[in-house]
Formats: sequence, structure tokens, C-alpha cells
Amino acid sequence: MPPSVAMPRAEPCIRRRARVTFCPGERGDVLGMVRRLFGRTLQLAELAGLAGAPGDAELEVGVYRGGLYLEFSDPPRHHYHGVFQVSRCPGGPILRIDALHIRQPALRGRGLGLRMFARQVATAVRLGVTRIETEAGRRDDENGYYTWPRYGFHGPLPACVRERLPADLAGALDVLDLMQSDSGRRWWREHGLTLPVVFDTHPQGRCRESFRRYLASRQAAPLGETEPRP
Ligand SMILES: CC(C)(COP(=O)(O)OP(=O)(O)OC[C@H]1O[C@@H](n2cnc3c(N)ncnc32)[C@H](O)[C@@H]1OP(=O)(O)O)[C@@H](O)C(=O)NCCC(=O)NCCS
Repeated sequence: MPPSVAMPRAEPCIRRRARVTFCPGERGDVLGMVRRLFGRTLQLAELAGLAGAPGDAELEVGVYRGGLYLEFSDPPRHHYHGVFQVSRCPGGPILRIDALHIRQPALRGRGLGLRMFARQVATAVRLGVTRIETEAGRRDDENGYYTWPRYGFHGPLPACVRERLPADLAGALDVLDLMQSDSGRRWWREHGLTLPVVFDTHPQGRCRESFRRYLASRQAAPLGETEPRP
């Protein structure tokens, strides 16, 4: 019987698709888990797409806590690193971004994360993933609290934030409300904090609409190069 997920073939030096491998000894479990989660087998390119892995990435897939585990990086440069989980919920599979880190600050803000997330959303939608979850962090070296809502993630604003909103933003209940205006984004960039956030994949939903608008605005202003600045 042919394997459900094709093994990676030898790749040329410059790859257009991420190289996908299985965690040692977990290939059979991964194939079974993929069928349980998605009701069918997946191509390696679909697994890479679920992680949003760029073409120069190496993606490892395993099983973890009753779901799929996906981790990528780009050796030998290690410019970025991502860790994701797919698990089953009653409405369909959900995807969790456990970590995504573009290591060099000089590479951030130039659209690499946006390209990864666009690929991830497109694949998630095709495969019936109902939502993407993460913790949008504000810590040393973390700007997810701003970037994820900028991509369309939503999450309720805690009372301690709502109490401090200026008059023109006073009606905002959700971080996505703030992201709709320049003044809201400016305020959140300065005062925002770590929040759990969710991206619903429903085609007519607010998350998808916000992301479509943001993507269009970034495409209108060409995305930066992805090589580090000197
Ligand atoms: C989050 C991350 C993967 C996004 O990738 P990216 O390539 O930088 O994202 P983009 O270029 O698409 O930028 C998206 C938005 O984030 C903003 N942004 C990017 N880096 C930022 C930073 N260091 N501080 C504040 N905002 C930042 C951009 O300005 C842009 O918003 P704008 O259009 O309103 O100006 C990347 O910035 C990163 O790795 N950051 C450090 C680790 C981290 O925060 N990971 C998230 C875990 S919570």
C-alpha cells in the first residue's frame, strides 16, 4: 500500500518547498493522527502549509498530546523558528501557534511573518481548521501582542485595559476593535499587553476580513526584503 504521506524526495540546493520529515519513530503515528484529524491523508506540502513554513525551512512533524506537532527552522542560518500543534475539537481541527520567532530584529517588520501567516491561513481554511489560537505576548523580544491582532486575531480586552482607554476608543471591547483605527493601533502599540487571541477561519468572519484588508494594504506598499540589513 502506498504511504499516506509521501516521503520527501532529494531536494536541490535552493528549495521552493519546505523539507518535511517525521520525528524519529513517529511516522506511522503521524499518518494515523493526520487521518483522524482531517479525515484523509495529507501531502507533505499541506503539512508545510499548515505551519506556514517558508521554502527554505526544515519542518519536523510528530505526535504530541493527542494531536500533531509541527516545528520548523531554517538551518544552518536559524533566522526563524516556529512551533505549532493541531488538535481535534468538536467543530473540527484547531491549530495552535505555540511559538513563532524571527530571531534577528533586523528581519522583523518586513513581511516574513505575514507571508508565513498568509500561507498558514490559506492551508488551514482548505483543510477545514476552524480556528487558530495563540498567546499574543508582550515580553522582552516579543511583539505578538501587536502583530497578531494586526493580522486579525481577536480577544476580549481585560477590564484593566478598558478602564484606561482614551475617550475616542472608549467603546472598544475587543483588541480587534482597537486595530480598526490608526489611533487605536497607536494606543495598543504603546499600552498593549499579553492576551490570549483567536483567529476564526470563517470566510465571512471579522478575522478573515481584517486579514484580507491588512494583506491588501501591505501588498500595496511592497513588502521589505527578507535578508538582514547590514
Ligand atoms: C511576530 C513576528 C513573527 C511577525 O513577523 P514580522 O515579519 O515581523 O511581521 P510583519 O512584517 O508582517 O509585521 C506585522 C506588524 O507587526 C509590526 N511589528 C513587527 N515587528 C515589531 C516590533 N518589533 N515591535 C512592534 N511591532 C512590530 C509591524 O510594524 C507590522 O505592523 P504595522 O503594519 O501596523 O506597522 C516577528 O515580528 C517576531 O518574530 N517577533 C519576535 C517574537 C514574537 O513576538 N513572536 C510572537 C510570539 S507572541
